[in-house]
Amino acid sequence: MPEENFEKVAALDDLPEGTPVGVELPSCGSICLVRIGSDVFACEDGCSHAEYPMSEGEMVDDYVIECGLHGAQFDVRTGEVLEVPATEGLRMLEVEIEGNDVFVRSEE
Ligand code: FES
Repeated sequence: MPEENFEKVAALDDLPEGTPVGVELPSCGSICLVRIGSDVFACEDGCSHAEYPMSEGEMVDDYVIECGLHGAQFDVRTGEVLEVPATEGLRMLEVEIEGNDVFVRSEE
């Protein structure tokens, strides 16, 4: 079990490879999970441009998620903006994986 403030959000086996998945958490609100191989990345599920759900977007390249509304692109590892119209990055959440369990650090 990870340290405090992490909560289980998914089973690794249930996350499709390279497809954003939205999850509702009581503690964090809506988050977007992306599995790439044995890694999982988590960000807030609202584009920094106009809050469209990132879980409605798609992966367009290795580690590049594209917003489904206006096409902004972000690096899912860091949240960094790679393509306008977004100018601010996504807020990322820390992820830990233990066995088949995926945990995300919740808000303090
Ligand atoms: S809401 Fe995502 S690019 Fe506009």
